[in-house]
Amino acid sequence: LPGDLYGEERANSKGLDLAQARVRASLAKAFRDFETAEPITAAPLVNGKLLDGAAHHIMSPVDSGEYVGTAVDASVDDVNAAFEIAIAAQPAWDARGGKARGAILRAMGDALEADMERLIVLMAREAGKTLNDGIAEVREAVDFCRYYAAQAEREFDSDVRLPGPAGETNHLGLKGRGVFVCISPWNFPLAIFTGQVAAALAAGNAVIAKPAEQTPLVAFEAVRLFQKAGLPASVLHFLPGTGEIIGAALTNDPRTQGVAFTGSTEVARAINRSLAARETAIAPLIAETGGLNGMFVDTTALREQVVDDAIMSAFGSAGQRCSALRIIFVPEDTADELIESLAGAMDELQLGDPMDPATDVGPVIDNEQRELLLRHMERMEAAAKVIKKIDDVELSERGFFFGPALVELPSLDMLDREVFGPILHVVRYKRRDVGAIARELAAKGYGLTLGIHSRLASFHRQIQSIVPAGNVYVNRNMVGAVVGVQPFGGEGLSGTGPKAGGPHYLHRFAGERTVTINI
Ligand code: SER
Repeated sequence: LPGDLYGEERANSKGLDLAQARVRASLAKAFRDFETAEPITAAPLVNGKLLDGAAHHIMSPVDSGEYVGTAVDASVDDVNAAFEIAIAAQPAWDARGGKARGAILRAMGDALEADMERLIVLMAREAGKTLNDGIAEVREAVDFCRYYAAQAEREFDSDVRLPGPAGETNHLGLKGRGVFVCISPWNFPLAIFTGQVAAALAAGNAVIAKPAEQTPLVAFEAVRLFQKAGLPASVLHFLPGTGEIIGAALTNDPRTQGVAFTGSTEVARAINRSLAARETAIAPLIAETGGLNGMFVDTTALREQVVDDAIMSAFGSAGQRCSALRIIFVPEDTADELIESLAGAMDELQLGDPMDPATDVGPVIDNEQRELLLRHMERMEAAAKVIKKIDDVELSERGFFFGPALVELPSLDMLDREVFGPILHVVRYKRRDVGAIARELAAKGYGLTLGIHSRLASFHRQIQSIVPAGNVYVNRNMVGAVVGVQPFGGEGLSGTGPKAGGPHYLHRFAGERTVTINI
């Protein structure tokens, strides 16, 4: 893309084209290399030193008998050690300035790009990511590094001069806050992990990062790449473990000066409570959580396009995106045709091993998630109409596969919470009731993504004025926000903002200082 908000030259990272036989062959080779390489052990890493602890195997969601690597849980003592080193190291890191920090983040972007194929394979095995999702994920991680690097370079070295009376100068500058805790999710185990850490570092903070329990391996590899890129070991510490023990120890610690969290609304609330209960500094929480995302279709919409976009938004990444489409609202007049087309298109979806370039939908992350989806489907079978369910019987003998489902809801009352997987709900509306149904969705309290399919600007305006959403997509799919192009994040139950990959994100990680000098 030609430029960004500031008119600067900026290009997003390039991907790989799976249509090319050469690319497919190269990824297949990366897979063979991965299988014969020494397995990864993601151990706590404090000040560059690997620490011991209780080890457990990470098995693949693709095949529960497939060993991918080992995770070593951090202890509460490791939390303490990480804080001590991070606090001591942060002032010097902050003092290096935005340009020096930006240079390291740019080197990190290059290191990720150079290691792209291995990371894609690792995510396919550890997180069940399809190849296309893996490609997009590495690109996003690279983009975060370069975007925040550019902003650190531009904004963190030069104080802004402000007006004042004769004999007085006033300057406003940005600086790091101290030690930031970054807690990332399994659904974007590389991009969100790297994005949070890169932002906190860019703003001049030291970081303690806890990856999701399910996906510590790729996060560990990201930390290794940060080090390779020249990041001092004293400013980024890696503490794998559970949210209950390590996450809580980090967010309860009085030395925490800020938390970046992506995950469930419930955990974001708990972190908010624990930060608020401390007697020490009032620390910001940057939370990105879930969504109950709707797509509103009217009778002017192009059916083929709606079907394409809805299928991709609801079932891509096995529905495991906070941005994913959960409920499609269709006008009664055209509902039957649209539902039939959606069901027909679902037959084309290929469920399978993510290393197969033809796979559209891989497994869900673990048995717990699969069970939640199965229980939701039981409720739907009892009280709604299951229009289509793609068979997963054979695959789910081996891994945590869940065939995409299309369910018609008799009323929106039946769905109050995000269901995190490949289940698309349909709700029919009478044309004159569209405002009422949009208000019903708004009342659920989420506000992440919103899709609108219509050729009428008045319909776009009506829906947007009712349904809260951080990211609105008109006449296209509603997933895959691009750094610097669609800054991403929600409101209400969906998060605090500011938006990742946008121009205001770094500011929440930073402190501000005004200096007045009487000359
Ligand atoms: N940023 C992702 C998307 O836009 C979701 O987390 O799909």
